[in-house]
Amino acid sequence: MSILSSRLIFLILLLCAALVCAADLYKTLEIDRSASEQDIKKAYKRLSRKYHPDKNKDPGAEDRFVEVAYAYEVLSDSTKRQIYDRHGEEGLKAHEGGQQPHANPFDIFSSFFGGSQQQQQVRRGPTSVTEFEVSLADMYKGASIDFMIQKRILCDHCRGTGAASSSDIHTCSGCGGSGIKLVKQQIFPGMFAQSQMQCNECGGRGKIIAKPCPHCSGNKVMDHTAHYTLEIGKGMPEGKEVVFEGEGDESPDWEAGDVVLRVRSKKEQGGWRRKESSLYWKETIGVHEALLGFERNLTHLDGHIVELKRKGVTQPGFVQFIPEEGMPFYDQPAYHGDLYIEYNVVLPTELTSDTRKKLSQAFFGRDHPPGKDEL
Ligand SMILES: *[C@@H]1O[C@H](CO)[C@@H](O)[C@H](O)[C@H]1NC(C)=O
Ligand SMILES: [Zn+2]
Ligand SMILES: [Zn+2]
Repeated sequence: MSILSSRLIFLILLLCAALVCAADLYKTLEIDRSASEQDIKKAYKRLSRKYHPDKNKDPGAEDRFVEVAYAYEVLSDSTKRQIYDRHGEEGLKAHEGGQQPHANPFDIFSSFFGGSQQQQQVRRGPTSVTEFEVSLADMYKGASIDFMIQKRILCDHCRGTGAASSSDIHTCSGCGGSGIKLVKQQIFPGMFAQSQMQCNECGGRGKIIAKPCPHCSGNKVMDHTAHYTLEIGKGMPEGKEVVFEGEGDESPDWEAGDVVLRVRSKKEQGGWRRKESSLYWKETIGVHEALLGFERNLTHLDGHIVELKRKGVTQPGFVQFIPEEGMPFYDQPAYHGDLYIEYNVVLPTELTSDTRKKLSQAFFGRDHPPGKDEL
């Protein structure tokens, strides 16, 4: 009986392993089924770098690297992607007839990145860097912040050609599509010089658009409001640059650049100041508290209470050190820097005659203020 049940467990484990292998390829690349070719490339670029065993020594990183390469191999090939979409992994196996082994994931990686290095001739669009202010509380607690960017995207109607339809794009008859015209100039009677000029009929593009796209009026791009989410990690350093790769302005003439947000906390967050992992707070106390001691509750950035307790005299400007109540460390958010409380003592603007009498008695042993010689 016990042998039987342990076999059963073994079988179940095997089955689970098979299921893990057949994990959804879209999920592996963290994209959805409607992802474009560009989305697939972007996802592979990001994840393959993240899990490359040269860089990532976490257990399981290499497995993820292999899975990501396989998902990219399938989804970047439009035939394989179609088969996968319709018939799943089984369909792919049938298609390949069990003959074609998977490509080496490291070859996929180097041809992907090597390939894009060769393409450096492709122009990159501008990268925009924006200062982005968040509250210090968000940097303390961590937060997801939604924001919008106004940008240009390729017209989705003409896909950036600027023409109403592909039959409206004609080769320029003035230059035969080369964009260049050879011009003969007579220097002397009977003597000609030939020079090259940009074709004036097509502006050097070699193509003429008979009917411009009605959607973008032939501009090829349109204004668009794009929504993103910025993830603020606990203890994120001031000036940290968060890159949204390839999210810059689109154009048929370039590969979109990046959008970079430089994240900082807003100045003066209700008296809190930050310097790296340390926090500073100014607390104002009355003269009686400065003399006699006090207990106070300070509400921290996330709402938790820090008890401020002093016995005896607190000098104006005194700085109290409270360990581990500062900012979380970005790389180890379970640990915190320190907190420094600076005390400011306010004197009363007026004294009642009763208080005045009592103070005089306490400090001088008599009712009236001392004469000059006694000071
Ligand atoms: C501070 O808060 C604690 C509860 O967190 C409470 O027991 C205590 O009385 C408060 N002290 C002062 C001075 O308000
Ligand atoms: Zn258009
Ligand atoms: Zn032309």
